[in-house]
Amino acid sequence: MLNAKRVDKHLVPGRPGGMYCFDTVVSTNVVAEALVAAGEAADGDAVAADSQTRGSGRLGREFYSPPGLGVYLSYIKKIPDAAGSPGFITSLAGLAVVAALEKCFGLKALIKWPNDIVIKNKKICGILTRLCAGGADGKTPYAVIGIGVNVNQTPGDFPPELAAKAGSVRIALGQVAERERLLAEIVNELDMIMLYQNALCQPAAPYIGQLKELSFTLGKKITVSSQTKKETAVALDLAPDGALVIQTLEGKKTIRSGEIDEENGWSVIG
Ligand code: BTN
Repeated sequence: MLNAKRVDKHLVPGRPGGMYCFDTVVSTNVVAEALVAAGEAADGDAVAADSQTRGSGRLGREFYSPPGLGVYLSYIKKIPDAAGSPGFITSLAGLAVVAALEKCFGLKALIKWPNDIVIKNKKICGILTRLCAGGADGKTPYAVIGIGVNVNQTPGDFPPELAAKAGSVRIALGQVAERERLLAEIVNELDMIMLYQNALCQPAAPYIGQLKELSFTLGKKITVSSQTKKETAVALDLAPDGALVIQTLEGKKTIRSGEIDEENGWSVIG
């Protein structure tokens, strides 16, 4: 079970939002979206659970969320306007997760565009941001930032379809990690970026600079799959809004969504 008292112990005292810890929920995103819809959400509120019965991932996939092993968190942020890009919010959340992993365990993680955190080529975290409306008028735009981290899984814990690509903090660290500490530190880092720095209202360039430095994707030969086609490209750069600039046989393109796979052993730069 997730120990709420231990989570509290690691949160910055007097932080702005509430911290709700549950044993099992369908999805922390669903709980957070319900809080927003009911007009009961405040900026910085965070919903966490020990397990999810139907955690949601990108592209309609289910996010594997077993009890006792992971961090499943949804962080609520009021956004400046309905046009707030979920992609950029996800990227900012990626910076928070990378910083928390370094602070808690000294782990160096990278961001695989657009929403995965990887250590040594293995995905240890996925992020899914959903925009919704709520507040007193029912129309205030919010982002619910869903973050799932594999913390204490061993290789044998992953279902066969995930085994080749998934890793965990424990595997990277070589020892069991305290989930509550990581959960609290991710929330502290999200508070810093989303609330104190108010990153969504600041020039994006410094954040894009950090994202480039921490990118697992840039400089690699990749395949980009959408619902209609799959093409080979080179990941060239991040656009000023965090979109991915790629070079394909047809020319340069900027993409804001899609499934990216690195082609093994083939890197353009470095
Ligand atoms: C992905 O890798 O496809 C994104 C996964 C996001 C999973 C997290 S776990 C907490 C939150 N609740 C959900 O149902 N999904 C997100």
